[in-house]
Amino acid sequence: MPKMFASARAHTNIALIKYWGKKDQKLILPYTDSLSLTLNEFYTTTSVQFDEQLTHDEFSINAEPVSEHNQQKLAHFMDLIRNQRQFNLFAHVNSVNHVPISAGLASSSSAFAALAAAASKAAELNLSATELSRLARRGSGSATRSIFGGLVEWHKGHDDKTSFASPIDEQVDFGLEMIAILIDTSVKKVSSRSGMQNVVATSPYYPAWQEVVKNDMVAMKAAILKKDINLIGQIAEENAMRMHALTLSAQPSFTYFNAASLTAMDMIHDLRSNGINCYYTLDAGPNVKVIYHHQDREVILAALSEQFGHNNLVVSQPGPGIQYLK
Ligand code: DP6
Repeated sequence: MPKMFASARAHTNIALIKYWGKKDQKLILPYTDSLSLTLNEFYTTTSVQFDEQLTHDEFSINAEPVSEHNQQKLAHFMDLIRNQRQFNLFAHVNSVNHVPISAGLASSSSAFAALAAAASKAAELNLSATELSRLARRGSGSATRSIFGGLVEWHKGHDDKTSFASPIDEQVDFGLEMIAILIDTSVKKVSSRSGMQNVVATSPYYPAWQEVVKNDMVAMKAAILKKDINLIGQIAEENAMRMHALTLSAQPSFTYFNAASLTAMDMIHDLRSNGINCYYTLDAGPNVKVIYHHQDREVILAALSEQFGHNNLVVSQPGPGIQYLK
C-alpha cells in the first residue's frame, strides 16, 4: 500500500471581472468568462491521507470538525476523485485557512483549489494544471482560477472539458497591489451560490450583464498588456458595481454592502479626487478591496486607517499558483 498522502497550498483570488451565475449547477459552468488576481496574503493549506481503515471521509478545518452541510459538500467533491481514480478509499482531510471564512474574501477559491491539488496528488492522478483547474471548478467556481498565480482568466467553456482557467500574467511586475479592508469577517447572510442563482432567475438585467462581461474581458486584457493600473482599476470597479446592481435588481432584492462598505467606497472616491489613483471592488460580502500602484500604498493606508484602524487593513501583493508541500 503506497503512502497516498499529499499536502498542497493554494492562494485566494479576487475577481477583477466577476463570475456571477451558473449555466450548469452540477458541473459549475458559468455564463461568462472571468478574470482575477491571486493574492499572496490569503491562503489555505490542505493535507489528504487516504486510509483503508476509514468508512467515510474525515474533515477538519482549522482543527475543528466541519458542519453537516460542509461535510456533504466536501465528501461529494472527494467522490469525484474516487470516481476518476476508480477506487473506494476514504481520507483524512485537514485544512488550515489563512483567510477569514465566508466573508467575501473568497475562502472557497483557495479551499477547493488546495483540496483538488492535495487529493488528486494523494490519489496519484497526475493531473495537468488544466485538468486540476477543471477539478477545482467542481468544488467552487472561483477555485478554478486559484490553480494559477498572478492574473488569471477563467474561460467559461461549454462543457466540463472546455471550462478551465489559464494564466494571463503570472509575474505581475508592474506594481499592482490590493488592500483588503476587513469590515466584517463573520459568515455572510446570502452565500454566493444562492445569491447568483436568485439573480440569474430573476434579474431583468442578467442578459445585459453577459454583454458587460464580454466587453470588460477584452478591455481588461488590453489594460493588462499595457500594464495600466488606472485602467485596470477603473474597469474592475465598474464591473464590480454592475455585478452588485444585479443583486439590487433581483427578486427578492439583496445587497452585500453595509454602511461601512459605502463609507470605504466614498473614501476611495475622495482619494481619487485628490489625485491618488485607487479603485475598489467588492465580492459577496461587505469587505472592500482597494486596487492601486504600490507607490501610493502609504497615502492610502494612512487615509483608510483613520476610519477602519490599521489592523483591519491587509496589504497584499500578487500571489503564486498551487504549491505542493513536503
Ligand atoms: C463574487 O466561486 O464562491 O467572488 O461557484 O457557487 O462556489 P460557487 O461560487 P463562488 O463565487 C464567487 C463570486 C465572486 C466573484 C468571483 O470570484 O468571480
